[in-house]
Amino acid sequence: MPVEFLASVLFDGPQVIPYWEQIKQYGPTLIPIATTVALGKYYFRGATNTWERDLHGKVYMITGGTSGIGAVIAHELAMKGAQLIILTRRTDDSWVAEYIDDLRDQTSNPLIYAEQCDLNSLYSVRKFATKWLDNATPRRLDGVICCAAEAIPRNIPRQITVDGVEKQMGINYLGHFHLLTLLEPSLKSQPPDRDVRVLIATCSSQSLGEIDLQDLLWEQKQYPTSQPWKVYGSSKLLLGVFAKQYQKRLMEYERKDKAPCNIRINLVNPGLVRTPSTRRFISMGTIWGLLLYLITFPVWWLFLKSVYQGAQTFYFGLYAPVLMKMEGGCLLQECKIMTKIRKEIDDKELQEKVYHNTTELIKKLEVQSAIERKKNKTEEEIQQEKEAELKRKRDVNIQPKTTEELNQKLNTLRSQIGIGGGSSVSNNENGMPLFPEESDLENLKNNSSSKNRTDGKKSSKKKSKGKK
Ligand SMILES: NC(=O)c1ccc[n+]([C@@H]2O[C@H](COP(=O)([O-])OP(=O)(O)OC[C@H]3O[C@@H](n4cnc5c(N)ncnc54)[C@H](OP(=O)(O)O)[C@@H]3O)[C@@H](O)[C@H]2O)c1
Repeated sequence: MPVEFLASVLFDGPQVIPYWEQIKQYGPTLIPIATTVALGKYYFRGATNTWERDLHGKVYMITGGTSGIGAVIAHELAMKGAQLIILTRRTDDSWVAEYIDDLRDQTSNPLIYAEQCDLNSLYSVRKFATKWLDNATPRRLDGVICCAAEAIPRNIPRQITVDGVEKQMGINYLGHFHLLTLLEPSLKSQPPDRDVRVLIATCSSQSLGEIDLQDLLWEQKQYPTSQPWKVYGSSKLLLGVFAKQYQKRLMEYERKDKAPCNIRINLVNPGLVRTPSTRRFISMGTIWGLLLYLITFPVWWLFLKSVYQGAQTFYFGLYAPVLMKMEGGCLLQECKIMTKIRKEIDDKELQEKVYHNTTELIKKLEVQSAIERKKNKTEEEIQQEKEAELKRKRDVNIQPKTTEELNQKLNTLRSQIGIGGGSSVSNNENGMPLFPEESDLENLKNNSSSKNRTDGKKSSKKKSKGKK
C-alpha cells in the first residue's frame, strides 16, 4: 500500500496526496511551527540516563514514593527487582494499600512495603527509624531516596507541622535531616562491598533561598505569603548544606574493618516536571487556577518534563559507577555532576554550624512535642504504650538497651529452653549460672547423683516394703 501510494505520487504528481491544496496553502507557515515545537519538546525533555544496574536483592527506602517523580522511581526500582520500603504519611489508608498492591502486580515484585514515617512529625520519623534500627542483626540498606516535599502555593497563609515548624521547612528539611541522621548506624553498618547511595531531591529554587543561622526555620521572620518559594528554596538550600556536612561526617568515621566509607550522599535536581505539586503550585491551589492550568496545558506540556524524564537524573545517581569514586555531596542535574553550586553549600564553617544548630533545634522540638503528647494522652494510650514497651523489652529478637532489659530477655530465653526463670545475668532461680563453668557442672552432677542415691534408697525401701 505505501509503495503503491509512493509510486502514484511519483508518476501522477503530488496532487494525489490528500488535502494537497491545503498543505500547499498553509504548509509554509505550519511546518516551521511544528518543527520548532518538536525541537523545543526534544530540548526540554532533558538528558536521559544511560547507565544500568542490577538491583536484585538490594533494599531501598524512599520518601515521596506515592506520587510524581518518586512514584516513577519506585516503579523503576521495583521493576529491577529491588526490595522497596516506601515511607508514607499513613499506612492505615486504603489508598496506600491499593497502591502497594498495584505496584506489586504491575512489577511482579512482592517485596514492596509501606511503612509509616510522616515527615510532618519528628516523633513519627523517630518511631520509624527506631523500629528499623531495633532489629538485632542490622538490616540491609542499599540506599535512601528522599523525594517527599511540600511546596506551598502563593497566597496561602503559613502552615505548620505537628512540631509547630513552618511546613516546607519541617517536611523538606527537618524531616529528612532527622530521618537520615537517625539512620546513620544502619548506613554505617552495611558491609564494605556494598554501594550505599543516598539521593536528596533539590530544586533550582534553592538559588532564591537564604540561610539565617539565628533563624534557620523561618520562625521569627515574617512568612512571605506572596513569595513562598523563598522558604521552599531555603529548605532545599539547607538540605544541600546538610548533605555536604553529613557526607563529611561519614567519611571521617573509621570502620572497624578499616574499609573506606562506602556511602555517598548526592543532591538531585530533576528540573521542572509536570507533577501534582507543580500543578498545585501553578494553579495556586484554586479551582480557577486549575482551570487556567488546563487551558494553558499545551504550554506546560511543551516546557515541563514528564515524570519519566524528571526521574532520569535520579537513575543516574543510583546507577552511575563514577559517583562511588567521588567524595559525595555532588549536585546532579541533567545526568551530570554540576561544578557550579551555591557558595553556601561549600562553606565548611556554615556546614558545621547548620548541622549543629539543626541538631539542637530537633532536640528542643522533640522535648516540647513529648510534653505536649503526654499532656494529651488518654488512659488507654498510656496503657497501650506500657504494654508495647514491655513486649519490646521481652522480645529476644530486639537488641537490649539496658542491663535490666538484657536480664529480662535472658530470663525469657531461660524459660524458653527450660532452665528456669532466673533473675540476674549470672544466676537463675536454681542457683545455676546461664553460662556455667566446669565447677558449676560438677556441683550439678554431684547434686543430681546424691539426689539419685536418695531416690534409689527411697525406691529400694519401697521395694522391700512391697516384698514384706
Ligand atoms: N516537580 C518539580 O518540578 C520539581 C522540581 C525540582 C525539584 N523537585 C523535587 O522533586 C521531589 C519530588 O517532587 P514531585 O513534584 O514529584 O512531588 P509530588 O508529586 O508533589 O509528591 C510529593 C510526595 O511527597 C510526599 N509527602 C508530602 N508530605 C509528606 C509527609 N509529611 N510525609 C511523608 N511524605 C510526604 C507525598 O505523599 P502523599 O502521596 O501522601 O501526598 C508525595 O508522595 C521533591 O523533593 C521536589 O522538591 C520537583
